[in-house]
Amino acid sequence: NTQRVRMNNLEQNSFINYERLKQNLDIVKKRLNRPLTYSEKILYSHLDDPKNQDIERGVSYLRLRPDRVACQDATAQMAILQFMSAGMPEVAVPTTVHCDHLIEAFSGGKKDLARAETTNKEVYDFLSSACAKYNIGFWRPGSGIIHQIILENYAFPYSLLIGTDSHTPNAGGLGQVAIGVGGADAVDVMADLPWELKCPKTIGVKLTGKLNGWTAPKDVILKVAGILTVKGGTGAIVEYFGPGVESLSCTGMATICNMGAEIGATTSIFPFNKRMSQYLRATNRGPIATLAEQYGSVFAADGDAHYDEVVEINLDELEPHLNGPFTPDLATPVSKFKDAVKKNDWPAELKVGLIGSCTNSSYEDMTRAASICQQALDKGIKAKSIFTITPGSEQVRATLARDGQLETMSKAGGIVLANACGPCIGQWKRTDVKKGEKNSIVTSYNRNFTGRNDANPATHAFVTSPDIVTAMVFAGDMRFNPLTDTLKDANGNDFKFEPPSGEGLPSKGYDAGANTYVKPDPASAKDVVIDPQSNRLQRLKPFSRWDGKDATGMRILIKAKGKCTTDHISAAGPWLKYRGHLQNISNNYMIGAINSENGEANKLKNLETGDYASVPEVALYYRDHGIRWVTIGEENLGEGSSREHAALEPRYLGGTAIITKSFARIHETNLKKQGLLPLTFADPSAYDKINYNDKVDILGLTDFAPGKPLTLKVHPADGSAAWTTTLNHTFNQDQIEWFKAGSALNHMADVRKN
Ligand code: F3S
Repeated sequence: NTQRVRMNNLEQNSFINYERLKQNLDIVKKRLNRPLTYSEKILYSHLDDPKNQDIERGVSYLRLRPDRVACQDATAQMAILQFMSAGMPEVAVPTTVHCDHLIEAFSGGKKDLARAETTNKEVYDFLSSACAKYNIGFWRPGSGIIHQIILENYAFPYSLLIGTDSHTPNAGGLGQVAIGVGGADAVDVMADLPWELKCPKTIGVKLTGKLNGWTAPKDVILKVAGILTVKGGTGAIVEYFGPGVESLSCTGMATICNMGAEIGATTSIFPFNKRMSQYLRATNRGPIATLAEQYGSVFAADGDAHYDEVVEINLDELEPHLNGPFTPDLATPVSKFKDAVKKNDWPAELKVGLIGSCTNSSYEDMTRAASICQQALDKGIKAKSIFTITPGSEQVRATLARDGQLETMSKAGGIVLANACGPCIGQWKRTDVKKGEKNSIVTSYNRNFTGRNDANPATHAFVTSPDIVTAMVFAGDMRFNPLTDTLKDANGNDFKFEPPSGEGLPSKGYDAGANTYVKPDPASAKDVVIDPQSNRLQRLKPFSRWDGKDATGMRILIKAKGKCTTDHISAAGPWLKYRGHLQNISNNYMIGAINSENGEANKLKNLETGDYASVPEVALYYRDHGIRWVTIGEENLGEGSSREHAALEPRYLGGTAIITKSFARIHETNLKKQGLLPLTFADPSAYDKINYNDKVDILGLTDFAPGKPLTLKVHPADGSAAWTTTLNHTFNQDQIEWFKAGSALNHMADVRKN
């Protein structure tokens, strides 16, 4: 086990260290003294401190050291801007950026790509120059979808990946724990901070029998979604096992793991197996397969491992499913779908069938789809519905082009789109129906929430396997069941499709296609390109350090009343385009929060001028006049998403502390990371006693210590005597250093310098 094996073929200096992971595992096993599941083994092997870490499923917070980070182009912008502000020379952990989300599907692959390169030029220039400088691998527009590129090049068994996209779990198909996170988490890992994850529960899915006929790997997860529902996986890792696993290809397992996101699972995973070895070898990573094979039972669950819940699926009996509309857990087997269409009055005409995406664009998926197209061509018929094909990567596209499947699908009426997210993320210029017109589409994608694909709330989107999508486009009818129903051939005779057939891996090997990867080169990299006039991107300056004194004479910017989620703090929708521009996005700070003074949103009294203005306007006034301020709120402030902007904005606008009755945990940590003080009233009634126009001091910062409360001194506006109340905090020693340095990133930069 001593040979050095590279983690991938693109980075010369990242090596796999299974021995160290196994040592960590041995430490944890001795401590816990119980059998472990496969995903538990991987997670606990990646602990920052395996000797002392508390480990209780569903309770403790694990501090982990991931092996790599992946970012897609929409979320990478703020993550990289933040990383840059720390002043570190390069990322601490191997990282890649993937240009896939910003490409709009309009008329077909090549043209769409060219358009995207023009419209998103400033974003691509920024990302590529930052990647070159900070030693981040850059995958150009056209390279493919993040999760396929990860599977083809970077994922390997018994490793830990975080990615800034919810379908990162796709890599579970190669036996990796791969978890979707927010940008703030990615920045931590890039800057060498441990990453925190609530210790997940484990749901076991036992597969028996064998996949056959029209049933595809997709149907496993469609069935699981039907059983567990969209919330069923929350806080858990879904781990597959059992004899049925052997009948699944590696890319099929990836499809199943990908869509685990639809049941809210932290991630999904298959234990290391032969099919993964075959895929690693087919993608030029034989040495990894050989190394992993030496670990035998270490890379699987212990025989008697305990799952918090077990679901069993017999693949022999599993039918193809169509899930939807509007939610991915409304599962209908194909045999009952016809009746469901009638009963629910779903539009019976099939307008568009879309295959591919990060979920279902493997060589196997596409060869099976092409086999159905070939049958149709042999019968002299073409697709009745619009039919689009999104290859998941340039490698898959080039291989399918070489082997003829793209031609077959095009001849049958298919339109090949760019290797990108396209219609899956709503980047679809759809012209065949008007907005508001009721219609049906079927996709082999993963999500089908209202309006996701085409922004039309009346579109009924159903998620199914590429096989079913492809067969149905030839019928143009939602009531067509390819397993039992016939179609007319060119001569008017009835025929029935044979079940699809396909190759798991290309017999001639993969064709890499155009070279779309840009290797970073920090030594010769130029400066990062950000147009100072840009609306979308803005360089961040490091936040200032603590001045070493108690914070006195502060204004209360807003005393907010009632619920205050991350949406109230930093709204989404039209603001998304400013995610890389802190100044512009800060114009949404707290615009949804209710002001306790007047019961209104986004209308505050500027206590210096007496005028009413928006929250961001008043905050900026205070900041620019050297007046420090705090925000006051009620329960569970910052619940909702992990959006780091909700913490960056108050810091940018000059806030010092956020004082509440309680916080949502992730938001509380995000505030600490940005150098703010999230504090809670020891006596919640103090919230009622404070008036919006009082002034406040925070005392005790000069001996700020873990577990030691601070004091809030209130100077009432009516001139009555000042009074004090206790403020609790949850800062540990490291986090106090973040506060003193001005932010976690400033602190990490300090540590690196010393
Ligand atoms: Fe892209 Fe859709 Fe996957 S948006 S990453 S193709 S879920």
